[in-house]
Amino acid sequence: MKRTCLAIVLAAGESTRMKSSMSKVLHPVAGRPMIAHVVEALANASISSVALVLGRDAEIVQSAAARNDISLSAFLQTERLGTGHAVLAAKDAIAKGYDDILVVFGDTPLITAGPLLAARKGLADGNDVVVIGFQTADPAGYGRLIVEDGALVAIREEKDATAEEKKITYCNGGLMAINGAKALELLGKIGNANAKGEYYLTDIVEIARAAGGKAIAVEAPETELTGCNNRAELAMIEAIWQKRRRHELMVSGVSMIAPETVFLAFDTQIAQDVLIEPNVVFGPGVTIESGAIIHAFSHLEGAHVGAEATVGPYARLRPGANLGPHSKVGNFCEVKKAEIGAGAKVNHLTYIGDAFVGEKTNIGAGTITCNYDGVNKHITRIGANAFIGSNSSLVAPVSIGDGALVASGSVVTQDVPADAVAFGRARQEIKPGRAKILRERYQAEKASRKK
Ligand code: UD1
Ligand code: CA
Repeated sequence: MKRTCLAIVLAAGESTRMKSSMSKVLHPVAGRPMIAHVVEALANASISSVALVLGRDAEIVQSAAARNDISLSAFLQTERLGTGHAVLAAKDAIAKGYDDILVVFGDTPLITAGPLLAARKGLADGNDVVVIGFQTADPAGYGRLIVEDGALVAIREEKDATAEEKKITYCNGGLMAINGAKALELLGKIGNANAKGEYYLTDIVEIARAAGGKAIAVEAPETELTGCNNRAELAMIEAIWQKRRRHELMVSGVSMIAPETVFLAFDTQIAQDVLIEPNVVFGPGVTIESGAIIHAFSHLEGAHVGAEATVGPYARLRPGANLGPHSKVGNFCEVKKAEIGAGAKVNHLTYIGDAFVGEKTNIGAGTITCNYDGVNKHITRIGANAFIGSNSSLVAPVSIGDGALVASGSVVTQDVPADAVAFGRARQEIKPGRAKILRERYQAEKASRKK
């Protein structure tokens, strides 16, 4: 029979070391709050009951953690008396009776399903406490795992460790599985007689053993268990996350010339045979279809790029940009909330916002959709096979029909019918010989000033 499981996510800490006006678990990794990464890992491990222990910013943290596939209960830890105390804030949830209790930390966002499943397997094998550990070259700040003859004997917090114990590089990753039938009894025995005067969850190892139970440590990669206590660690976690995701995309068929310069968001979707050039940044909500090329120094957010389309170099796609197949958005162009039809070209120095651009239409250099009147946004509709001459301003709301042509330098304020030409600029005048006359006059003026 399948074992039941409750995951308790601790997210009530003060985040003192983060030096921030918001809870540490709300700080983003790959564009979404750390806590959401942790809860996603739980969902990936098929855990559907989650108890959140909250303190600072409780409501915001709770909504950041919410997902459809998980039933979430929230508990307030009113005083921050340590991780052992925090777990007991969820004692009503534990009391419902689960085979496995899994404790995870909200500040360990690199965790994946693997170690969660390994911890539960340890319980199924008859242990009362299973701790997921990792080896690290820099153990400072972590609790050290004291292992003897394959058994986990104790976890020693940094502040309570002897000089000899501090040399141990096998550390507590903060992920622990506890036998659900004994959890409340064991947790209730945790005291606070230590250097910090806190109730340490980690004391449960010795408590379980004293009660005749077994405890073990299971090793997982450091890259899954790196904890975030300050902004330097946040940057390190971001770097690990990025490296992992780039690798996944590359092995799935995405080319990157300089992967270390490409920054992805948690939900970036890139199809096979897409080429990403150096220095490209993806904000949330981007999907790229196969064969597209994202040239260097482009920034994309909330955008969809169709098959074989090209973007950049130096392009900015903002939320709602939807590029059709084979379309082009070139250098120094910005597209926001706009459809760019299949095969359409927006090649140079252009802003297209709140607009529809039809198939195979060519938007000349320096075209601006004037979508905002200072109060409201208005829509520009451009049909298929149209041609917008360079340096035109399209003052929305305005429509330009299929096959229409807008002369360069036009300010278009009226709708242009299909196949019509619109001139919206002063007619050119020629004054023969006038340039020479003016030049001679200016030279004479300059010479007289020098005298
Ligand atoms: C903890 C572990 C340490 C481990 C490390 C892994 C303890 C005593 N120490 O240390 O062995 O190596 O994590 O990253 O467990 N929290 C609460 N309420 C509290 C205190 C903490 O909810 O009263 C939450 C925090 O928000 C955080 C998590 O528990 O998400 C861990 O707390 P933190 O203070 O970061 O523990 P560490 O000192 O990192
Ligand atoms: Ca921590």
